[in-house]
Amino acid sequence: MSTAKKEYKRVTVKSLTEMKHSNEKISMLTAYDYTMAKIIDSAGIDVILVGDSASNVMAGHETTLPITLDQMIYHASSVVRAVDRALVVVDLPFGSYQSDPKEALRSAIRIMKESGGHSVKLEGGSEVKDSIKRILHAGIPVMGHLGLTPQSIYKFGTYTVRAKEKAEAEKLKEDALLLEKWGCFALVLEKVPASLAQEVAESLTIPVIGIGAGSGVDGQVLVSHDMFGMTHEFNPRFLRRYLNLYDDMGNAVSQYVKDVKSVDFPNDKEQY
Ligand code: KIV
Repeated sequence: MSTAKKEYKRVTVKSLTEMKHSNEKISMLTAYDYTMAKIIDSAGIDVILVGDSASNVMAGHETTLPITLDQMIYHASSVVRAVDRALVVVDLPFGSYQSDPKEALRSAIRIMKESGGHSVKLEGGSEVKDSIKRILHAGIPVMGHLGLTPQSIYKFGTYTVRAKEKAEAEKLKEDALLLEKWGCFALVLEKVPASLAQEVAESLTIPVIGIGAGSGVDGQVLVSHDMFGMTHEFNPRFLRRYLNLYDDMGNAVSQYVKDVKSVDFPNDKEQY
């Protein structure tokens, strides 16, 4: 049997389902600006998430709650301008979809129209059923997000692993099945036991993308600033850092300061 993977010139929601069914793992990273998105897309990522984690890593807020719909649209439109291949998923921010399905649809439409993103992601299951259905009804692809849902941090009180207890695990499994039934094209599972995540992935036909959810799911997502090592205070067990840019960039800045002070920079060739 051939093991050759299909080449995708442009990744769509349909490509992700095909990847799941051909056992090709899906790669996903966040991006919030043009330059980062260009690097990540050119390197062959399948999905770029314009996450509301922009609230933390770009704006320095403690939680994802403060970021606004306008700010998400600004980040998403910068990303979309850079992307040639990846599917772009944009988070609906806290407050833009929970109170009423009509508002949820208006928010999703604004993201699609004003940023050019290809789909939206929102957190929760049965609690946000009407919002999800309304958005899907308008032809907008929706990615679900269960497990640790950072927009509900004040309800949880901590960022620890979710669904370790039976009741919460059962509710998560039910919600995952509902999201698939309603028509979501994929699901993020954040910080849940690996065995539970694998069980969910095996029970669904749509792809399950994990973060802190083990290897038995259909793909992985990380916050790019964490995987590049640009952040250094956030050290969860699930994070693999591929670079140490916090130190590398800091060292470059120290060298630049020295070079400017000593008039080593600019040299004769670096001027007109
Ligand atoms: O906002 C985000 O970056 C996310 C990922 C952690 C999945 O939702």
